[in-house]
Amino acid sequence: MTADMTTHADLLRHTLVDTLAQNLTRRGLTLFPDVERALRTVPRDKFVPEVELERAYADTAVVTKRREDGTGLSSVSAPNMITDMLLQAHGTRGLAGAHVLEIGSGGYNAALLRELVGESGSVTTVDIDSEVTDRARRCLDAAGYHDVAVVCADAEYEIEAGRRYDLIIVTVGAWDIPPAWIGQLTDSGVLVVPLRTHGTTRSWELRRTGDQLISLSNMLAGFVPMQGAGQREGWSVALHEQVTLWLNEIYQQQFDGTHLDGVLAHERREAGTGVIVPGGRRSADLDLWLATHLPDFAMMISQQSAVTSGLVSPASPFGTPALAHDSSLAYRGRLKALSDTEFEHIVYGHGPDAEQVVQQMAEQIRAWDAAGRPAPTLHVTPIDAPEHDLPHGQVLTKRHSRLVFAWN
Ligand SMILES: C[S@@+](CC[C@H](N)C(=O)[O-])C[C@H]1O[C@@H](n2cnc3c(N)ncnc32)[C@H](O)[C@@H]1O
Repeated sequence: MTADMTTHADLLRHTLVDTLAQNLTRRGLTLFPDVERALRTVPRDKFVPEVELERAYADTAVVTKRREDGTGLSSVSAPNMITDMLLQAHGTRGLAGAHVLEIGSGGYNAALLRELVGESGSVTTVDIDSEVTDRARRCLDAAGYHDVAVVCADAEYEIEAGRRYDLIIVTVGAWDIPPAWIGQLTDSGVLVVPLRTHGTTRSWELRRTGDQLISLSNMLAGFVPMQGAGQREGWSVALHEQVTLWLNEIYQQQFDGTHLDGVLAHERREAGTGVIVPGGRRSADLDLWLATHLPDFAMMISQQSAVTSGLVSPASPFGTPALAHDSSLAYRGRLKALSDTEFEHIVYGHGPDAEQVVQQMAEQIRAWDAAGRPAPTLHVTPIDAPEHDLPHGQVLTKRHSRLVFAWN
């Protein structure tokens, strides 16, 4: 019986890894052999014993703790997300011999890291919730990973006085980079962190140089938000029962959303941009360009019913860039098909100054195109870094750090 179960779990695990590898190839990425070996070795089912084997090896997160309203507090992350972040963590240098701090403990990712760092490396995983650390400890022991250290603490702060890590991998959605994360990295150590800016979370691979971090890669990600001292909620303005504007970087007292009441009832204006793309891909770089170049930027989230009824036609219902100005609104619309392979970026707007705001957003889409459709590099500097030390780019001031987005 046990032997059969093991065989079935192994089979499911290898099938999952085959799929992960194929999906990476489709995206032009490679699964490093040591990451692949770790994924084929660690028994994920031992880290989600509450679900059946098929679910343990499905490519989805398993929520292990919820708030009263049903939203997730803790989970064992989805294998594709874990793999993407491990590839960022691995970088070109690999992880053999590395000393790693994982923030957010499901057990599974810590076990994968343990496989990757080998005998001479070490893995410490920290979680703010003792139920989560108890669970992680139990699962790690059940799977034979007794040498992963599990700590219960708020990872906003230093975990062990004076200890430095080659890699800090954050597996919870952060809004800022607290000083302890930079301070605990070795020189040229790497921080991989899902960081929320302007309402969208991207996992950034950031290398330490002095007291700054510079990005090597980024990709879209989704994570439960940080708790404890680093917690920061966004806030929203309802444009309609089914359409909401999320403002994450603008403080509530600086923005009067009441002007936007009923804005969608105004006739819709459309502005073409002349910027043609092949379609089928998310325009993540463009969206970050818009977020960093437009004032009063927000993300507009729409229920599917609002899209189906034609009330709005966003680039994505889960979040499209929007610009609010007094009683008017512009947002990036669904790509307009010009042919099977050519799609145009479109901007829609409503309100008395719709023409002005749609043109403002359209101009920025054209500016991004004219700049060569660049990708962002993120520089993270401590909040007290002198202005003249900041690299050239768009500055976003957080609580502990300044983020500077440079475009190349
Ligand atoms: C997505 S789960 C971690 C997934 C895990 N790494 C895995 O193996 O799949 C995120 C975790 O972050 C934890 N967390 C939230 N805020 C934290 C904080 N300030 N310090 C440490 N852990 C925190 C939550 O309790 C939650 O268990």
